[in-house]
Amino acid sequence: MSKRFSTAAQNLIGQPMFRMLSKIEDLEKQGKQILHFELGDPDFPTPTNISEAAIKSIREGNTHYVNSMGIRELREAAQLTTKLSRGFEPSIDQVLVTPGANYIIFLAISTLVNPGEEVIIPDPGFPTYTSAANFVGAETVFVPVHEKNNFRLSPDDLESKITNKTRLLIINSPANPTGSVMTKEELLEVAKIADRKNLYLLTDEVYSRLIFDSEKSFFSPSTLDECKERTIIINGLSKAFSMTGWRIGIAIGPSEVITKMGLVVETLSSCTPPFCQIAGLEAINGDQSGLVKMKKEYFDRKNILVEGLNDINGISCVDPGGAMYVFPNIKETGMTSDEFSEYVLGKIGIGVLPGNNFGANGEGYIRMCYSTSQKNIKEALSRLKILFK
Ligand SMILES: Cc1ncc(COP(=O)(O)O)c(C=O)c1O
Repeated sequence: MSKRFSTAAQNLIGQPMFRMLSKIEDLEKQGKQILHFELGDPDFPTPTNISEAAIKSIREGNTHYVNSMGIRELREAAQLTTKLSRGFEPSIDQVLVTPGANYIIFLAISTLVNPGEEVIIPDPGFPTYTSAANFVGAETVFVPVHEKNNFRLSPDDLESKITNKTRLLIINSPANPTGSVMTKEELLEVAKIADRKNLYLLTDEVYSRLIFDSEKSFFSPSTLDECKERTIIINGLSKAFSMTGWRIGIAIGPSEVITKMGLVVETLSSCTPPFCQIAGLEAINGDQSGLVKMKKEYFDRKNILVEGLNDINGISCVDPGGAMYVFPNIKETGMTSDEFSEYVLGKIGIGVLPGNNFGANGEGYIRMCYSTSQKNIKEALSRLKILFK
């Protein structure tokens, strides 16, 4: 039978990093030792208190369907955390638990944007924004973020992209792939633009707990409307708590938007696994020492990596304010992002991602995730130094 796909399926791009991962896995199967900097997956085990809470929950029989909006205890914990971290307490019907934060991107775009309407996306940016927009037939409009501005998105640049077809603005601070952190003033300005232009604002805050300056410096543009009018927060437990495989995302938004998004969860997944939600509850309410330790380790690794990269011929690297990535400029090596990534993988066994996996403006850069030991980081730096001497 000749294959005929829907337009939506033809437009799908997924997450390009998973393709690099399978290339690296093939090399490893052939016996090659690879130092991993490609995937944004923490190398720490999930803290024991969190895993134990899930195991106990399974033993107690929490292995059945639950409310598709999420279990009440976790939604209440999200209400309280939002109050403590962002200064306002959403109502329970403004909170939705999802199978991972990635899901929320699709939920928001699919419930708010019609085919042909525009979604504004940072470039470089997390690939799911583009993939989900393409899937629903929305038009993607990219705002370049620039190295000279430490990769922070400029509110003026964002505003210049708005047309009468714009429906949704997406921002991400701290950002993947650059680690940039927008200032409070910039974030407030974006919130005011969304308000002035009557647009929805999707603010991806999955790295909010991974800011290196101080926890106090995290600011959410949601404080302007308290997620009552137009702001939808994407949050999740994957990164800060090393829980990528548990698939817990938490969305906060206007109650009528959250209700619609919940119906999509119900349609696609029925609900989020209850024992994973109990693990999430422990992550939020339980002992935070695991998080504190991981964050300190990320900070130390980031410092070693940035300093080392800036000492290599042809490479320069901005010191990022958060997340778990660096986004070094490799233009002076004379290679493209793809060439550089293939070269370091083949020659010295280092897995990185080409910056153009995150958008056209990422060309000339690579992304390195430092979810690997200080020993591996130092080893990678010394191999790079020899290769580019
Ligand atoms: C900016 C950003 N948003 C969302 C996600 C999705 O996270 P989750 O594992 O919760 O689906 C990621 C994961 O890499 C990310 O970097």
